[in-house]
Amino acid sequence: MKNAESGWFGFEAVTPDDKTQKVRDVFQSVAGKYDIMNDLMSFGLHRAWKKLLIEKIAPSADMSLLDVAGGTGDITAAFLKAGGGQAMLTDINPAMLDAGRTRFADMPPARLQIQEANAEQLPFEDCKFDTVTITFGLRNVTRIDTALTEFHRVLKPGGRFFCMEFSPAPLPILKTVYDRYSFSILPWLGEKIAKDRAAYQYLAESIRQFPAPDVLTARMKQAGFDKVTTTSLTGGIVTLHTGWRF
Ligand SMILES: C[S@@+](CC[C@H](N)C(=O)[O-])C[C@H]1O[C@@H](n2cnc3c(N)ncnc32)[C@H](O)[C@@H]1O
Repeated sequence: MKNAESGWFGFEAVTPDDKTQKVRDVFQSVAGKYDIMNDLMSFGLHRAWKKLLIEKIAPSADMSLLDVAGGTGDITAAFLKAGGGQAMLTDINPAMLDAGRTRFADMPPARLQIQEANAEQLPFEDCKFDTVTITFGLRNVTRIDTALTEFHRVLKPGGRFFCMEFSPAPLPILKTVYDRYSFSILPWLGEKIAKDRAAYQYLAESIRQFPAPDVLTARMKQAGFDKVTTTSLTGGIVTLHTGWRF
């Protein structure tokens, strides 16, 4: 069934509209502490994962990027720093965009634009961007298949899509420790640092509900992507999915 996750907010059964609202509330609440929480929760590993993504993108001066669900702008900032031409940083939540805005204070509008946008209904014409990224965002989108079709639509022919996301099941040897960490330490950290335990409980639950890499691969192909590949990182905790529009 298409967009099956639209009825789940973590482990809670909800309507699609409720899911969108609840995700909005999560990121509204944690926006100010989002970056520090990322460093603490991942022991800084998210920086290495994102660095690898930028190496795969291989930014160049004639390349345009659409960063969907870009939040505080880590991927956009790294893309521009690595010599990427133009970036469009988007997110559904203005609080997340605002939390990252100061890092771009000196960036000219010819290289960077920042715009609120829902991944399910991108306000851009067909065939506009060379590269589309979504990092740790797709898990939060209410209608995943709808969003994948949108990413394909706005890519130029010859353009490439990258999705980096937590995977529901890491290597079996990590499972016990990873589950204990996810369902005990993460919510505790959320309570102590971001003052929002429920937001980080949702993080742990939403990871378990996200499609496994082979399922997402099939759904990317269904949305029109070619040459779809996956790269498993850190014992399968994170997967980098890529696909081309031809
Ligand atoms: C975990 S953060 C990831 C931020 C950033 N990409 C990163 O890697 O640090 C998830 C982001 O997805 C955004 N988001 C959730 N649903 C969305 C949607 N339908 N369209 C666009 N952004 C969405 C949230 O507002 C939030 O900023």
